Parts: sequence; C-alpha cells; structure tokens
Amino acid sequence: MDGNGRWAKKRFLPRVAGHQRGVEAVREAVKACRELGVEYLTLFAFSSENWRRPAEEVSFLMQLFLKMLEREVAKLHENNIRLKIIGDRSHFDDQLNRRIAEAEQLTANNTSLTLTIAANYGGRWDIMQAVQAMLRARTELSAGFNETELEPYLSMHYAPEPDLFIRTGGEQRISNFLLWQMAYTELYFTDTLWPAFDREALQAAIQSYQARERRFGRTSEQVQSEQVQEGKVDA
Ligand code: IPE
Ligand code: MG
Repeated sequence: MDGNGRWAKKRFLPRVAGHQRGVEAVREAVKACRELGVEYLTLFAFSSENWRRPAEEVSFLMQLFLKMLEREVAKLHENNIRLKIIGDRSHFDDQLNRRIAEAEQLTANNTSLTLTIAANYGGRWDIMQAVQAMLRARTELSAGFNETELEPYLSMHYAPEPDLFIRTGGEQRISNFLLWQMAYTELYFTDTLWPAFDREALQAAIQSYQARERRFGRTSEQVQSEQVQEGKVDA
C-alpha cells in the first residue's frame, strides 16, 4: 500500500491525512476481496524500514493501527474474517501486542477471508527468524535441511503462496515484502495511489492476473496440454 503521502500532498493536506484515507481504501479492499471470493489478502502496512520516518509519523501510524484494531475487529469477526498479524512485534508496546493477540484469538476460527496485516515486517527478517526458530526446535544438530523443513516456521505458514502481488503508487519494487513466498507470484504495478485504489482498480489488477500464463518453469506447450487434460480448456 504505497502513495498515501503523495495523495495527501496533491491535496495540500498533511501526510497523516493520506494515511487516514488509506484506511478507507483498506476497508474497501477487504470488502471487495470477500465479495469476489479471494481467500487470502495480505497487506503491507508497515515495513521494518519505516521506523526511519519522522518520529511523529511513526507514532501516528502506530496509533492508527491500534485504533483500527480496537474499532474494526468486531466487524471483521461478524463478517467471518480471520485476522493475522505478521512481523517483528518486539518493538510494539504492550497495549498493542495485547490487542493483536486478542484480535487473532477472537477471529482464529473464521473461514471467509484470511486478512493478514504485515506490520514491522521484512522479508529477510522473516527468513532469518524462521531459520532460528527451526534450529531451536531441532533436537539433534544435523548438517543440512531443506525448504519443506523450513516452511512451517515462516510467518505465513498458514497460507498458500501468493498468486498476485499488487504495488500501488508507481514504484516498481518489492521493498522486502514476502521474499520467500513470492518466488512465483505474478507482479502488478499501478500508478494509482493507495487512497485512490478502489474496487475497480482491484478488479483491473485481477483481470491482468487472469490473462497471464503461469508456467512455474515449464514450457507454454506443457501448461496448455495439461489444461486440456484437466478439461479446463478445449483442445
Ligand atoms: C504508504 O504510503 C503507507 C505506509 C508506508 C505506512 P507512503 O506514506 O509511503 O506514501 P508516499 O510514498 O510518501 O506517497
Ligand atoms: Mg511510499
């Protein structure tokens, strides 16, 4: 979710007004995903690098996050949405960590949409914490380990790998998001600033995704003959 600051600046508003409008865009995206049958939506709200911003902006974002948790969780629960927070929580204050734990617990068994908020998240941090957790859990020290052994320790172990990555705000980079998990994810970049990213914008991204051929390293011919065999397309 990028472009809140620029959205505000264009309107001669303070950056924080952009973040506030960004929250509206989050509500709309969650609603649209639920209606479109998307099962997993993961939002990059705050990266481990965002601490470098001016202190007032960081503190505003933390307050906004806390307020969102307090205000929105009941509504998420009513809508059968499971909420997950990923990222390094060690820098959050106790109140925020308590709210996070309560929200996750309350919504743990919900089944319509899994909404994950990445807060103080970094893809490299994720891989490192997974390696450390895996090594701690090992009873015997063996030399090697494989991907399957590491995966249960990654932050998003409960979800399939993402199909589609959307970055708003015109920048074309991943910025340390789900590095491990995005190995085969389709990337979509749009100039639309996050506060202006509405249902139509989401649908345009999904349409772009639907027009792509996902080969996972195979050839186009292989993929197509497989689809014929599975009856997904006509021969
Ligand atoms: C994204 O918008 C929101 C967060 C990272 C919290 P920005 O704040 O990065 O907005 P721009 O990039 O300055 O427009
Ligand atoms: Mg930005």
